[in-house]
Amino acid sequence: MREMFAADPNRFDKFSLRLEGLLFDYSKNLITEKTLALLIDLAHQSNLKDWIERQFNGEKINASEGRAVLHTALRSPRDHSVQADGKNIIPDVHRVLDHIRRYTAAVHSGAASGYTGKKIRHIVNIGIGGSALGPLMACEALKPYGSADLSAHFVSNVDASDIAETLKKLDPETTLFIISSKTFTTQETITNARTARAWLIGCLGSEEAVAKHFAAVSTNLTETSKFGINPENVFEFWDWVGGRYSLWSAIGLPIALYIGMENFERLLAGAHAMDEHFRHAPLEKNMPVILGLLGIWYGNFFGIGSYAILPYDQYLQRFPAYLQQLEMESNGKRVDRAGHEVDYDTHFTVWGEPGTNGQHSFYQLIHQGTRMVPADFLAPLASHNPIGEHHAMLLSNCFAQTEALMLGKTGAEARTELTAQGLSGNALETLLPYKIFPGNRPSNTLLFEKLDPYTLGMLVALYEQKIFVQSVVWNINAFDQWGVEFGKQLANKLLPELRGKETVTSHDSSTNNLINLYRNRRNVS
Ligand code: F6P
Repeated sequence: MREMFAADPNRFDKFSLRLEGLLFDYSKNLITEKTLALLIDLAHQSNLKDWIERQFNGEKINASEGRAVLHTALRSPRDHSVQADGKNIIPDVHRVLDHIRRYTAAVHSGAASGYTGKKIRHIVNIGIGGSALGPLMACEALKPYGSADLSAHFVSNVDASDIAETLKKLDPETTLFIISSKTFTTQETITNARTARAWLIGCLGSEEAVAKHFAAVSTNLTETSKFGINPENVFEFWDWVGGRYSLWSAIGLPIALYIGMENFERLLAGAHAMDEHFRHAPLEKNMPVILGLLGIWYGNFFGIGSYAILPYDQYLQRFPAYLQQLEMESNGKRVDRAGHEVDYDTHFTVWGEPGTNGQHSFYQLIHQGTRMVPADFLAPLASHNPIGEHHAMLLSNCFAQTEALMLGKTGAEARTELTAQGLSGNALETLLPYKIFPGNRPSNTLLFEKLDPYTLGMLVALYEQKIFVQSVVWNINAFDQWGVEFGKQLANKLLPELRGKETVTSHDSSTNNLINLYRNRRNVS
């Protein structure tokens, strides 16, 4: 890469794209113009253009679940038309958005108050996976837009410590629980919801309080009514919205409550702008396409095992965790669309932490480890907290890292540096190998003006669509998750054995012993 940059002063111009306030610099990659042309050929051979249209037009591209994939419709303006099963779904989308708008206004004004008449001050989202990670990430990312009168909490884990620690911080009279579950059957969510319900009734002394302190977001209206949630506080969504693609739907209710409806709509508008770009820009000028193809390049031609997401923005601290589900649950697949086992690699591990913290932890491996770890660096030009020199320092670290990863440090450079430090002879030769950085380590930089709702919408949609691009090239379905279902089945089967009186012998010796240890402990206490 050093040589390619030296040979071509226009490399940045050639290998960067802009969309409104978002810059995508992909010049620090192991690519030439020919590489890119070949990757674009690969996208054409995979019929990417057709697949994009099939997605946007509501074809049932999630074949193993027999569903359309229309999260893009959730961020479409009111005057658009998108068909699912022969029906324009945009009026439904906006009917639910209107419902969210009304409810948000009522909570903010105090019209939708708690059972004792006090204004809602705390919202608690109870949900897991796609019914939690998006709203959690977005509320964290958009904290500067958060209401000073509301605090947002998220409970996911079936580990009681999660809800117990959250409840400690809450006042029941001013707390609203939002039970977010597409299916409304997810074990963790329903268990936490029941615990929250019992806590509330215990504190406020009446079952009637539930109607004032619980809302639900679900496609399963039968189960929400069985739980006792006031139908007026039930927000629907549809089976054509995948869990991990659902933050744009009513699953985004905590976001709308926390940052306000106007800001929530800016988030949707940013995502829509990215969708329009994805749908209409030529492949070679298309951000999600290029980002996706670069992942394919490293995944399938260099055999990388992992990919880092490194936001230089503290507010994006949950973005890597959010992308872990989005990317790995979508494309961690081993069977193609025809049901055949693939003979090539699909998705790699995705991980990351905000900079500069990560620099003092795992960057060592990225710089000098034996494996290549491509990385996306994300950074805002302006900070929400312009204090002293903090932001310049943050960005100097970000830019210096991508430069260092690309350039590395040669033996000759390391030698000159050590000599300047006064080392020579054996001492210098002994230290020299440790001071060499191979360089040639790829990264992308996504630079934006400020982390506002619109920009966050663009960024999330960028990753959603790049995942789709990769799924098309890999010929896999990005929208099912049978691997997760397997875990749910197994836990349900094992639970009665943990509760039982009989010694368990039906599993392998490891599992039998683990179960019996717990059973014995439980029976003693
Ligand atoms: O973790 C698997 C999963 O099915 C996700 O895809 C989904 O987002 C999550 O569980 C929660 O499911 P639900 O919204 O139905 O409770």
